[in-house]
Amino acid sequence: MHLTDVEEKMLAGEEGYAVQKNMQILTALGDIFGADKMIPISSVQVAGVSYYNLGDAGLEYLENLATNGARARVNTTLNPAGMDLENWRELGIDEEFARKQELVIRAFMNMGVTPSCTCTPYLVGNEPARGEHIAWSESSAVTYANSVLGAMTNREGGPSALAAAITGRTPSYGMHLEENRRPQVRVKIDLRLETVPDFGALGYAVGKKIGAKIPLFEGIEGSSVEQLKSLCASIATYGGTALFHIHNSTYHEKEAQAPAESLTITRADIDGALRSLNDETAEVDFVALGCPHCTLDEIKRIADLLEGKKVTREFWICTARQTMKEAEKLGYAQRIRTAGAKFACDTCMAVSPLKGRFKVLATDSAKACYYGRGTNDFKTRIGSVEECVNAAVTGKWS
Ligand code: F3S
Repeated sequence: MHLTDVEEKMLAGEEGYAVQKNMQILTALGDIFGADKMIPISSVQVAGVSYYNLGDAGLEYLENLATNGARARVNTTLNPAGMDLENWRELGIDEEFARKQELVIRAFMNMGVTPSCTCTPYLVGNEPARGEHIAWSESSAVTYANSVLGAMTNREGGPSALAAAITGRTPSYGMHLEENRRPQVRVKIDLRLETVPDFGALGYAVGKKIGAKIPLFEGIEGSSVEQLKSLCASIATYGGTALFHIHNSTYHEKEAQAPAESLTITRADIDGALRSLNDETAEVDFVALGCPHCTLDEIKRIADLLEGKKVTREFWICTARQTMKEAEKLGYAQRIRTAGAKFACDTCMAVSPLKGRFKVLATDSAKACYYGRGTNDFKTRIGSVEECVNAAVTGKWS
């Protein structure tokens, strides 16, 4: 791989131990993927923030970097942590976990990283422009950045994203190259999709059929941010692609030739996906919305649905702290809290230490079902926000 003089000096250790180590990570990655050079990046989003996933080894790695002078050179934000950084007691997190999680956040902050702790950085001020090279690692955010915003990022691991932050560079391969971003499968949607779970089911159905190939969707033009973030989360989870296109919206066919393969998604595919994500259980003891993190509109909708009601089950609304503060200004947050539901800022139902605390998760997110089952051994129910609010109030799935 060709390195500039500046990059050669970084690799030789002239900018210190931390820069050298991280340049070594990136050159190794570039060699593996056949990159011919490094490219500058304008923003970084780092996953691998929860102490639940990092453990002591991860904490030690971060503290070692911070004490050896590692500093972010570009705007760098964090994925959700293992707890709400302010109200962790209210969410049932124990003291020892909280102490370790705070050390993780402190190490990141010492490296100049902003502890925004959200998987929707594009909703809270980190919205890269079309064609901008970035290094993000949260899979749903990566897919949203590539597909909806038109930015260019690979799906980075936590260490490679942090290395990009510390060096301001990433190897030029994969999604950074136009020739790798062309659609490979035309996906015609043969029904009208409306709810957020419908879009999660679409990601599930298409992901299972085409894996990591890049789809070109026909039939979801004009979808909302909420619908698209749900699709991004599920297609990345169940298939593995980091990019999709939308016909006549994010992609215009005259720009390139049509994909060779095609596929039609019918009502039976969507119903089948929803059935696969729903376990046969009537009782619900945990309701969580906001995977990916809730928008302000979603929070307003939850507040409206909870009006005059009291929840009887643990009910988390996962969102960025900044979004929750906006919801407070508009009075939505107070209405939600009056009903007994809780905000889970900075965190989510997948990266928080919840194993053994609950048995059945109700959610509107296909991705939350995957992690609820895989990480926390929950049974899952997926449905509309109305069905989830009803489950939080009655404890039943109907
Ligand atoms: Fe975000 Fe957690 Fe879902 S990180 S995408 S809310 S699993």
